[in-house]
Amino acid sequence: MKAQILKSFGGPESFELSDVPKPVPSAGEVLVRVHATSINPLDFQVRRGDYSDYVPLPAITGHDVSGVVEAVGPGVTNFVPGDEVWYTPQIFDGPGSYAEYHVAAESIIGKKPSTLSHLEAASLTLVGGTAWEALVVRAALRVGESILIHGGAGGVGHVAIQVAKAMGAKVFTTVREANFEFARSLGADVVIDYEKEDYVDAILRETDGHGVDVVFDTIGGNTLSRSPDALAQLGRVVSIVDIAQPQNLVQAWGKNASYHFVFTRQNRGKLDELSALVERGQLRPHVGAVYSLADIGLAHALLESRNNGLRGKIAIAVEPQAHLVSANV
Ligand SMILES: NC(=O)c1ccc[n+]([C@@H]2O[C@H](COP(=O)([O-])OP(=O)(O)OC[C@H]3O[C@@H](n4cnc5c(N)ncnc54)[C@H](OP(=O)(O)O)[C@@H]3O)[C@@H](O)[C@H]2O)c1
Repeated sequence: MKAQILKSFGGPESFELSDVPKPVPSAGEVLVRVHATSINPLDFQVRRGDYSDYVPLPAITGHDVSGVVEAVGPGVTNFVPGDEVWYTPQIFDGPGSYAEYHVAAESIIGKKPSTLSHLEAASLTLVGGTAWEALVVRAALRVGESILIHGGAGGVGHVAIQVAKAMGAKVFTTVREANFEFARSLGADVVIDYEKEDYVDAILRETDGHGVDVVFDTIGGNTLSRSPDALAQLGRVVSIVDIAQPQNLVQAWGKNASYHFVFTRQNRGKLDELSALVERGQLRPHVGAVYSLADIGLAHALLESRNNGLRGKIAIAVEPQAHLVSANV
């Protein structure tokens, strides 16, 4: 099979499209013909060597799969050949999804929503699972509460807006002005231009000084230490970004705040919950760009650059038919 092999840590040119043996499913595993995958910041962080201790080279990387079951190993009960499936491969544990075939444990695989194309489905598994874990599992967002979602035009942010609206929350989000309409089209109630206005000032103005119930941090930097200024009493902060920089969180005491740190976990349950939102028309990933498996380096370069006009996700068509079943891609 064809696969993009990461031979050394470095720039987007570090991949080599190669022929490698097709994997074989063991007991409890499923062999999937990959129709589409997508790009996440984790992919270029891995490529650069940020996680070199966890990724032995050469490696097949990539963290989203949408495809069709080709074969099942002994003991698999939930899937048969021909099923359309989607999932995030186990992170830092075995080959990733930049390949024509992938093998995974059936416990982390879900049935792909029928109304999404493979490109769309592959654009949702990691970011959707992350947003679900952050908002539903950790923040336990409730109907009528308010949430500030940083980076509302990005891969995670644009999905988090839709999940939060489906949960009945009032959504504030930070985006650049060019993405105001995009964020509103996803359901955001209040859009804040992060380039022109301090988001804490904006939140206090828009909430009559009360602050929001939840802050979802997808950006990093000083967003954690500044979150208490934007939080209501008993507020919750959920961060999915690198916290290597020490931060002074003493202000959180005055707000009785809770902090949650999420490193996304794989399981079928989350995928099924996301699928239900998709089928109800409450969630749809936005595919902002599509590349082929051969052009994975170009896709990395685009996601890594800033101010590039990108909205939502970059999908990778591994199989030329990946766009079928799509209304808008
Ligand atoms: N812990 C986990 O399990 C987990 C899972 C998924 C992702 N992550 C991490 O979460 C982060 C976001 O991931 P992603 O997939 O959403 O990335 P992404 O698709 O690159 O989106 C990032 C978004 O942030 C926006 N942005 C940049 N600076 C901003 C600022 N100061 N204020 C508001 N928005 C800003 C960018 O908009 P512009 O177009 O305006 O630049 C872009 O839309 C990454 O660091 C990623 O590694 C962690």
